[in-house]
Amino acid sequence: MKRETVVVLDFGGQYNQLIARRVRECGVYCEIYSYKTEFEKIKALQPKGIIFTGGPNSCYEPGAPTYTPEIFDIGAPILGICYGSQLMMHLLGGKISKAPVREYGKIEVTVDRNSKLFTDVSEKTICWMSHNDYVSEMAPGFTAIAHSDNCPYAAMENTQRKLYATQFHPEVLHTQEGQKMLSNFVFNVCGCAGDWRMDSFVEQSITAIREKVGDGKVLCALSGGVDSSVAAVLLSKAVGEQLTCVFVDHGLLRKNEGDEVEAVFGPDGPYKLNFIRVNAQERFYSKLAGVTEPESKRKIIGEEFIRVFEEEAKKIGAVDFLVQGTIYPDVVESGVGGESTVIKSHHNVGGLPEHVDFKEIIEPLRDLFKDEVRRAGRELGIPDYLVDRQPFPGPGLGIRIIGDVTAEKVAMVQEADAIWREEIAAAGLDKTISQYFAALTNMHSVGVMGDGRTYDYAIALRAVTTTDFMTAESAQVSWEVIEKTTNRIVNEVKHVNRVLYDCTGKPPATIEFE
Ligand code: XMP
Repeated sequence: MKRETVVVLDFGGQYNQLIARRVRECGVYCEIYSYKTEFEKIKALQPKGIIFTGGPNSCYEPGAPTYTPEIFDIGAPILGICYGSQLMMHLLGGKISKAPVREYGKIEVTVDRNSKLFTDVSEKTICWMSHNDYVSEMAPGFTAIAHSDNCPYAAMENTQRKLYATQFHPEVLHTQEGQKMLSNFVFNVCGCAGDWRMDSFVEQSITAIREKVGDGKVLCALSGGVDSSVAAVLLSKAVGEQLTCVFVDHGLLRKNEGDEVEAVFGPDGPYKLNFIRVNAQERFYSKLAGVTEPESKRKIIGEEFIRVFEEEAKKIGAVDFLVQGTIYPDVVESGVGGESTVIKSHHNVGGLPEHVDFKEIIEPLRDLFKDEVRRAGRELGIPDYLVDRQPFPGPGLGIRIIGDVTAEKVAMVQEADAIWREEIAAAGLDKTISQYFAALTNMHSVGVMGDGRTYDYAIALRAVTTTDFMTAESAQVSWEVIEKTTNRIVNEVKHVNRVLYDCTGKPPATIEFE
């Protein structure tokens, strides 16, 4: 049976992934495609509905993103948002102009509650606007269904052709009844059933994996992070002992993490995985000795990981499938596809090995957003503490030690980090802070301990709140918690005589120190 799908056609808007997530919150599967995707491909998907995103351009600009008007004739209802609404009007014969008053922010909009888009929405409702241009003349066949003080056509519809357009952004939370509007579009206009659920995802994936794998052998690199853990458990439920998981301990994990991963996935854990732990700490430390440049460190860790994994895989012999924990945000391409500057190379431990003998890759989580991966994990019975883990970078503590890495420095940062995590949890903050850790600055400073002078390291504490990890704010952790953590660190961790709290947001800093 064909999976009910809504397609988001991306014109370079900042919120493309948010739109897809909101649609999925309605229980409707949703995928994002660049506006550069051929029409035939979109048509072949037989979407139940299509959403045009916003975008930074003006639709009359030369080279501005556009789409073939044939899209309006495939029978699927279409909702255009912001730039998407202007493009819809433009392509169908309306007119776009520079708005006399630029609207930005929360704006009160009056809606026509008789429209299917606004069923159960308040007549006056706050919506998020962000535009310089606006629709000054609607395309033939459209009627206005919302206006604001400065925007006569804040929303429009052509019920006969099932086309809808909003100048505002229903997908952002600032639009107070935005989720209602999107759900109205998906259910009232597109007629979706809304049966995309994690339990059905898990069930269907297991069946599909079994079919694909047959009696083949499967190999998975397990890091203990959320994605690879969920992928491994899903695979083990599907093909049991045909799966082998290799866990490379690169010596840059948090305190006790290697043993914790082994306790869950190893022979004494609840999952019957063929689990191989490789203790490769020394190899990594010797490769990293004396290396201080952050990108070189990342590269060394990533490459060494693959070498270790390959060696282990060789011992197993030829396999048929290799599992990758790719998730949807890794797959989505931005519609505009500009060349943005590389701030840091986020290569994950677990990139593709070149010398492993396998036929095909399996990416069971390719369609899921992070929160959906967590839901699938819960569905599979993986314990909360694993499923709700904060993100941990592939290169691990290697990028939380500024400058060169040694076993002693790793031990120091592990201890300090464990204390910080304990205190954050004790204060009940672990659910509200998005990411928190200790880092070892490369700074020595003078201190006094007892009657003696010290010349020791400074630890930096970091805690941030964020929803997307692209921007972040330094978390306002109470002084009491910071003070207690500081006291414990200087007392319990040898060679640390100073603790600093990082108050910087992202930008201008990044979350990790390297
Ligand atoms: P930054 O430091 O770029 O981090 O602000 C944003 C988020 O990405 C994580 N991060 C990484 N994750 N491999 C990963 O898997 C990496 O190389 C890497 N570098 C940073 C970081 O922990 C934060 O959540």
